[in-house]
Parts: sequence; C-alpha cells; structure tokens
Amino acid sequence: MTTIAVCFVCLGNICRSPSAEGVMAYQVRRAKLSERIVIDSAGTGDWHIGQPPDERAQRAAKRRGYDLSKLRGRQIASEDFARFDLLIAMDDANAAALTKACPPEYRDKIRLLMEFGARDDSRVVVDPYFGGDEGFERVLDQCEDACEGLLKALRTQLLT
Ligand code: 4NP
Repeated sequence: MTTIAVCFVCLGNICRSPSAEGVMAYQVRRAKLSERIVIDSAGTGDWHIGQPPDERAQRAAKRRGYDLSKLRGRQIASEDFARFDLLIAMDDANAAALTKACPPEYRDKIRLLMEFGARDDSRVVVDPYFGGDEGFERVLDQCEDACEGLLKALRTQLLT
C-alpha cells in the first residue's frame, strides 16, 4: 500500500510547523488516511530542540480543537531528505535553508505550504513569534486552508 510522508518545516519548530502538523493530522484523521499519510515537522534552527510548541501557538490551536501539547521541537536532519516525500516550508528563508542542506537529487521535494492554499493567496506563512496573538490566528487560518489543498493533492497521488 502506498504511503506518503510529509514534513512541515519552519525556523524554530515551535510555532508554524507544529501548527501545520496538528491541522494536517486532524484533516488526515478525518479523511481516514492516517495509515497512508505520515506527518512530521522540524525546524531549520536548533534553538528549541526538545521543547513543546510555543504557549501562544498551543492556546490558539486548542481553541480550534487541535492538541499540540505532545509535539517536541527538533531540527531537520540529513536523513529527512530521503525519508520524506515532501518537505513543506513555511517561508522563503526556510525553503532556502532546506535547499542548501538538501542533496541535489531530492530538491524537488521542497515546496512552500501556501502553494496549496485556495482561499489565501499569500506566498508565505508569516513568522508570528515576535508579534501578538492575531499572528497565531492567521497561521492557523493559513494552515487550515493550505492543508485542505495539500490533502486533495495527496489523495490524487494515492489514487494513481
Ligand atoms: P517558528 O517561529 O519558526 O514558526 O517556530 C519561531 C520560533 C522561534 C524563533 C523564531 C521563530 N526564535 O527566534 O527563537
């Protein structure tokens, strides 16, 4: 049976990529595809290794029914480029850092999350870390939109 492995990537792995992971896990469970779609997240930086998601990200996610409390920060590792089918970056700096670390044969696995958005036409998921609570709401709005599009694209791949 075909499975697809997806890793969401931001800078710290405590705000945007765990939010995307939580939203995607919910949508995948709802679609009964948890055995076919493997989801993880990582940061390009090493500051928050082993830490749970930012309290503000956890609170905002919990209000919408997503539990991020068990996730822990980790840094992207060289073996991730072979292990995952898609490495989905939140912004251009994350994508550039991934591209630099990625063996050339795997570079086409690197995509931007908002490529999959249908309602929101912004190119990137803006870093909410140094801003207010509204930034975390916007991250979730963007993740909910783009993960729907991503799931639709993955379903097509799983069927072919
Ligand atoms: P994230 O947000 O990349 O969405 O997890 C950030 C988390 C931490 C830092 C920056 C962005 N930081 O500078 O520590």
